[in-house]
Amino acid sequence: MRGARILGTGRALPSRVVTNAELTRMMDTTEEWIVQRTGIRERRYVDPGTGSSDLGADAARVAIARAGIAPSDIDLIVFATLSPDYFFPGGGVYIQDKLGLPTIGALDVRTQCTGFLYGLSVAEAYVKGGFFDHVLVIGAEVQSTGLDFSTAGRDVTVIFGDGAGAAVVGPAEPGKGILSSHLHAEGKYAAELMLEAPASIEYPRLSHEMLSAGRQYPKMNGRYVFTHAVRRFPEVIREALAANGLSLDALSLVIPHQANLRITQAVAVALRVSEEKVFSNIEKYGITTAASIPIALDECLEQGRIHEGDIVCLAAFGSGFTWAATLLRW
Ligand code: ACO
Repeated sequence: MRGARILGTGRALPSRVVTNAELTRMMDTTEEWIVQRTGIRERRYVDPGTGSSDLGADAARVAIARAGIAPSDIDLIVFATLSPDYFFPGGGVYIQDKLGLPTIGALDVRTQCTGFLYGLSVAEAYVKGGFFDHVLVIGAEVQSTGLDFSTAGRDVTVIFGDGAGAAVVGPAEPGKGILSSHLHAEGKYAAELMLEAPASIEYPRLSHEMLSAGRQYPKMNGRYVFTHAVRRFPEVIREALAANGLSLDALSLVIPHQANLRITQAVAVALRVSEEKVFSNIEKYGITTAASIPIALDECLEQGRIHEGDIVCLAAFGSGFTWAATLLRW
């Protein structure tokens, strides 16, 4: 069976920078609390009228150009987001249209923070199996339009940001590129981090009662998510290495989903690897959910932190709960 590798990456961040200081003027929070608890100093917000499909399409254009292929070479779009422009249709079709692509398939992935890695696993399977030559995987979020900017929403609001990242996956020689993907979910914890409304399980899907109860805003049991994340990240990274007969010493770089600087530091401690080997850019963007790993990967490549032959592990944990890892030989 042939291999599958990432041929090119791209990212798109809104130009509007929102500092912690700006948030302190809207809710009862402090710069110190946000930096100490999360490591976040600023995040980006879109201007109204910009959707996750716009950011996703911008990131995709860069990824396609860097992959050195023509847009018409893309065989399938896989779009991961928790913030599609609309309830339906999914955001992938808007990206297909915005990129002017022919009538190729557009598949939406709804696994939140792990969305990009779940999407990458789909691309990996299609390319390794020889069904498609080029799959475009995108993670994009517009979270800023769904946040509670009063003090009641401060725990979630200070950590979320907008952004997008993308990668083009194409054929490789066996043993190069994506070595394996490891996907997990534990739905009994769904309520610990979710958005309740609008909900098709209720009639009407959105009511004045729901709105006045604030059910249109994300709810998170932060400590609970934190505790599970620091356990699952190292576990799934070890699983990915073991599946490929590799030890922790072989790891050149871990690119974790950017959930919290303290989680990233805890992952480095648990794996007993130096902090420089675990990438972090959360201070600039906050949590961009499905977009965080492709943005981080794109920055790592730009900064020359990944070299040919390096073993790189992408890992994520989040709402669902879901968690995942992808092991790459660059
Ligand atoms: N500013 C000031 N005080 C705050 C804020 C804020 N923004 N938010 C919460 N607090 C208060 C709380 O009310 C609480 O006060 P109390 O002690 O009087 O009750 C106190 O700070 C401590 O709150 P905790 O929630 O226990 O704080 P913690 O240290 O756990 O940090 C945080 C909260 C940053 C959210 C952390 O739990 C975390 O990072 N969790 C994981 C988040 C995550 O990984 N999410 C997954 C991605 S989400 C997604 O993309 C879908």
